[in-house]
Amino acid sequence: MTDRRVRNIVVVSDLHAGCRVAICPRDGIDLDDGGHYRPSGLQTKLCDLWDHFHHEFVPRVTYGEPWHLVVNGDAIDGTHHGSVTQVSQNIEDQVDMATAILSPIVNHHKCAGYYHIRGTEAHVGKSGQYEEQLAKRLGATKDEHNRYARWLMWFNLCGYRIHFTHHIGTTGSSAYEATAVWKELVEMFTEAGRWGDQPPHMIVRSHRHRFIECRSMGAHGFINTFTTPAWQLKTPFSHKIPGARTSEPQIGGVVIRAGDEDLYIRPFVHRIEPPKTEGGREWAEEQASKSRTRSGSRNSTGSRRSRSRAKA
Ligand SMILES: [Fe+2]
Ligand SMILES: [Fe+2]
Repeated sequence: MTDRRVRNIVVVSDLHAGCRVAICPRDGIDLDDGGHYRPSGLQTKLCDLWDHFHHEFVPRVTYGEPWHLVVNGDAIDGTHHGSVTQVSQNIEDQVDMATAILSPIVNHHKCAGYYHIRGTEAHVGKSGQYEEQLAKRLGATKDEHNRYARWLMWFNLCGYRIHFTHHIGTTGSSAYEATAVWKELVEMFTEAGRWGDQPPHMIVRSHRHRFIECRSMGAHGFINTFTTPAWQLKTPFSHKIPGARTSEPQIGGVVIRAGDEDLYIRPFVHRIEPPKTEGGREWAEEQASKSRTRSGSRNSTGSRRSRSRAKA
């Protein structure tokens, strides 16, 4: 269903359903051979953020109006790179998990349309077949070639032209975090100019599991490129790579809104608290304790001197 009056798009990506450190249905999931998986404590925290995003943040920033939903790839974790971090390596189990997570959002009375973008083949299968399977089951809007999940999408939101696809370059350096994002915008403008097409007002990318927004101004208002956070915590791989190993994962989603004046976004980006510190007290607490000890010994010396002066 496409409703021209809808002014909002809710974007989520990188759910990686099936991974033990990614979002999981709160009540767990029945597995193919009769077992049942229950989410870990950290997965329950992801569920809390998911509920907060969809039930509090989205209604607030959309002013209670309807919205389109775009799942921008990597909804399924798959069986990738020889990893052993999956709840189940049976793809049907993983599709069941993603269905249980997304179905209440897709079937929400404010959801005016659901569109699915294919993610990385290592996760979502060759040609994105696992996401095609999921999007078909959830009843995604089909593209002109009858595919339920597509590689890219142009979307017209109240006259604003928005381009979605999953992939974008990454970086191991915080100093260059914006480089590939801005480069994407430059490349899209170059391509539009070459063929005389209308360039995008907004470009949406995912894959790097981190939010960043690059914004500039053009003849029709803001030109904006952004990347979405994810719903997956640190995997063994992210403990290895530069940038990821030194930071906490960014969890959340983004709402795009065609406002009265211009097209803008409202990001929801959170982190799970870092692991506990082992060993003794924190540096500041240690210093405060030393300072208390020093001032305590001065006071006691001072009071002895006072007593001796009083006797004299
Ligand atoms: Fe991902
Ligand atoms: Fe990806």
